[in-house]
Amino acid sequence: MTTSLMQTYARAPVDFTHGQGPWLWDTDGKKYLDALSGVGVCCLGHAHPAVAKAISEQAGRLLHTSNLYGIPHQSELGRRLAGLFNPSDPASVKAFFCNSGAEANEAAIKLARKHAHNKGIASPEIIVARGGFHGRTLATLSATGNQKIQIGFEPLVPGFTRVPFDDPAAIEALANNPNVVAVLLEPIQGEGGVVIPSDDYLRAVRRLCDENDWLMMLDEVQTGMGRTGQWFAWQHSGAMPDVMLLAKGLGNGVPIGACLARGWAAELFTPGSHGSTFGGNPLVCRAALAVMDVIEKEGLVEHAARMGHALRAALTEALTEALSAGHIVSEVRGQGLMIGVVFERPCTELVGRALARGLLVNVTASNVLRLLPPLIIGEQEIRQIVETIVELIHNSPPTVE
Ligand SMILES: Cc1ncc(COP(=O)(O)O)c(C=O)c1O
Repeated sequence: MTTSLMQTYARAPVDFTHGQGPWLWDTDGKKYLDALSGVGVCCLGHAHPAVAKAISEQAGRLLHTSNLYGIPHQSELGRRLAGLFNPSDPASVKAFFCNSGAEANEAAIKLARKHAHNKGIASPEIIVARGGFHGRTLATLSATGNQKIQIGFEPLVPGFTRVPFDDPAAIEALANNPNVVAVLLEPIQGEGGVVIPSDDYLRAVRRLCDENDWLMMLDEVQTGMGRTGQWFAWQHSGAMPDVMLLAKGLGNGVPIGACLARGWAAELFTPGSHGSTFGGNPLVCRAALAVMDVIEKEGLVEHAARMGHALRAALTEALTEALSAGHIVSEVRGQGLMIGVVFERPCTELVGRALARGLLVNVTASNVLRLLPPLIIGEQEIRQIVETIVELIHNSPPTVE
């Protein structure tokens, strides 16, 4: 029963009791294939034994002290992430740990403002993209390029200049604006509809940031930790940001976020600049280290690339008819295991129909069926996902309401 909860979510009529790998079971014992992973969180699937063991061991040892003291697991996690972020110079990277994606973005926004302060800029501007999503706190919803999320919460936090996504010229046009200090983007827009920019986009952003002394800040909250077939989505282009934000897959369900910065950006915060009571506590850091161990040992980044390719190819082939008819499905797109099936019209009702058939998916930007299966997904489960989606579309394609 959810009547005692604020009505912030349109919840599906199902309660899950437990999970195993990519599978979930509800209170009636019905089994579901989870092709959403708690919106890109449970990259190792559910109840992974190595993560469960790390969490229970740590719970029996030490849950929390405070960032007033040293936290060895936090330092180790920072080191491990630094090595992945900038392998040729990990010492240039520093991490700040928090509890969510929005908080990771908040830390980045504060870094950009600190950069502005140091330069004597009183009204700093951060360039953000239309269709972007960065969270639900006041600053991050102000950075988000979706009015639905903002209406009712005005006045918005000032200091964000919005440009179209995947349009380097629109960013370049702001080069003469002396108040601009940073660019904040998702390398692939997730909530915006699995929107993949052109190959050169991030490299162009990198060049513009270098030329103008702007921080290049990438929100990898959804795309990071192997989801797209690289540890971080920017690695597909080689355009290394100055600041990178992580959450979701980092903890596999344990609430943790991270703001990683390199070079001079890593030195902007000084004692007292920022903080969090729970951020980076022993429990969540130990869990995240276990997650990283499994991803590395099981080669899940490469596996995500292979499975993503297989899933996209199978969907494209199975939907050939719908694609060529052009009036039902216009595109199957994605990178790694972040996939969108783009419909010609709103398709939100597919979520409930998929649920009834035992498949968890979601719809974003009203017409994009989004798949974020766990990185451990196998070929048989991929076949099941494709079969169910094809059946849904062929039996009863989305109609205009
Ligand atoms: C790209 C991106 N940034 C930030 C967030 C916000 O993360 P959280 O809900 O953990 O605050 C999300 C959540 O969907 C996201 O996809």
